[in-house]
Amino acid sequence: MKTTYVLVGLMFIAATAAYAEDVRYTTHIKQIFDQKCAGCHGGDALEYGDFKKDEKKYTQMFKGPKMDSYAHLVHFTGWPDTGAIMRRLDDGKNTKENKPGNMYQNLGANEQERQKNLKLFKDWVGNWTLKRFPELSKDDLAGIKVPY
Ligand code: HEC
Repeated sequence: MKTTYVLVGLMFIAATAAYAEDVRYTTHIKQIFDQKCAGCHGGDALEYGDFKKDEKKYTQMFKGPKMDSYAHLVHFTGWPDTGAIMRRLDDGKNTKENKPGNMYQNLGANEQERQKNLKLFKDWVGNWTLKRFPELSKDDLAGIKVPY
């Protein structure tokens, strides 16, 4: 009897671990991005470097920097714009004043959908660190997985 409980427990752990590993750009993240982010970060958005030249103007036009490919999106996770995705999408649980990042609201139409999509982003990123590059250790960086 005891063995059964242990086995069921182990199977559950294995299942959740497999689930966390299964969140990839191509299977989950691209789909969320296309629905929730592409309107402002899609094909007609500017490269980050060009966006930064007149950030204020583009922000007023509701145009953020371009993120509509795997390579573009990971730029905002590990390096060079370290932690940007994490700081902007966090629901406030990891921030000092419990204030959500300003892109969190775009993750869904209601709290349930936002939490569901935040969980997928967190599983995809791996090490959900809000640190900027100077504070980031090599282990922190290695924990950022973002599988394709
Ligand atoms: C209504 C338009 C709009 C939507 C939808 C939107 N964003 Fe943004 N986003 C912006 C604008 C404009 C900026 C630049 C201004 C700012 O920094 O807040 C920005 C900035 C960002 C940044 C910071 C980039 C940097 O400078 O480091 C990240 C990361 C980001 N968005 C991620 C997302 C993600 C992920 C989604 C989808 C869940 C999303 N955004 C949805 C308009 C949008």
